[in-house]
Amino acid sequence: MQDLTIRYMGLTLSSPLVAAASPFTGSLDTIHALADAGIGAIVLRSIFEEQIRAEVQDMEASLDLEQHAEVYDYLRADLPMRVGPERYLALIRDAKKAVHVPIIGSINCTTPGQWPDFARKVELAGADALELNVYDIPIDGVESGSDVERRHLEVVRTVCGMVKIPVAVKIGSQYSSITHFVRQLDKIGVKAVVLFNRFFYPQIDLDTLTVGTGVNLSHAGDAGVAIRWLALLRDQVQCDLGMTTGVHAYGDVLRGLVVGANCVQLCSVLYGKEGFACIARMKSEISDWMLDKGYDSIDAFHGMLREPEEGPSRGFNRAQYVTTLLEQ
Ligand SMILES: Cc1cc2nc3c(=O)[nH]c(=O)nc-3n(C[C@H](O)[C@H](O)[C@H](O)COP(=O)(O)O)c2cc1C
Repeated sequence: MQDLTIRYMGLTLSSPLVAAASPFTGSLDTIHALADAGIGAIVLRSIFEEQIRAEVQDMEASLDLEQHAEVYDYLRADLPMRVGPERYLALIRDAKKAVHVPIIGSINCTTPGQWPDFARKVELAGADALELNVYDIPIDGVESGSDVERRHLEVVRTVCGMVKIPVAVKIGSQYSSITHFVRQLDKIGVKAVVLFNRFFYPQIDLDTLTVGTGVNLSHAGDAGVAIRWLALLRDQVQCDLGMTTGVHAYGDVLRGLVVGANCVQLCSVLYGKEGFACIARMKSEISDWMLDKGYDSIDAFHGMLREPEEGPSRGFNRAQYVTTLLEQ
């Protein structure tokens, strides 16, 4: 096996494959199984800022449903599995004792008020790093795009000011200027930005004419958006970049690495028939590819196809899109 070691947020990972936040990373049994399967790091399932303010049983009452209907749906999709703040901290402590891979806490948040002290508790519980999932559906029609971004940056700045462990921010792809926003995050001092969060969408049942929720997993071929932006951002920021959404095969991992990702997160693929065995298979396929190409470390090819800041484009920008359409 070739050396698959990579550095992510100052942590050494035995491979770039990271378990993304999901129900699999919310219980000690599956955390154990992921470590045994050879995962490079584990992002624990998120605790929500709403949960930090209120214990699970009070959650429905504490949510302003008009403002947070989407968050409520997301939570309700697997509410029984979710844990309150104290149990979340216990999970961090137990996971750190149980496995030797880096453990990254995760908080899903949208506002800087009332909860950020909890980030410090995550650090004290022993998490190696913290990922903030800034998940927002701004629907009041009053806040402008820049207001929303300012609020998100304020959350991140507040948390970064509270902890010494590295902080990553996982974002969605729907900012009007992703480059500008990620550069602002970089200036605040985040150690990584993870591209891109994937949302659950409401599901309309045409028989019952009701609106429900459900988990929708990604598919092979969904990695393109993250790959484009990893390539475009790699030379524009100092911080590391993580990739999430649509990683289903070793080729997706390698494509992420050649455009500059420092870790590649797996979620939907872990739900497949093969289960966690896909981790060892992908590592072995990556190693075979490296052997074939003559690379003995990931550093040897990491970022080699990123978009250069100067000189001819490699094909990730608008000009290439125009050319492609004109050629059809
Ligand atoms: C059932 C389920 C639960 C998830 N829970 C979380 C979560 O708690 N926090 C988070 O940041 N992302 C969560 N995600 C998003 C995943 O971490 C991942 O970013 C997303 O599914 C895209 O990756 P994929 O294409 O490999 O599935 C969840 C995804 C699924 C399918």
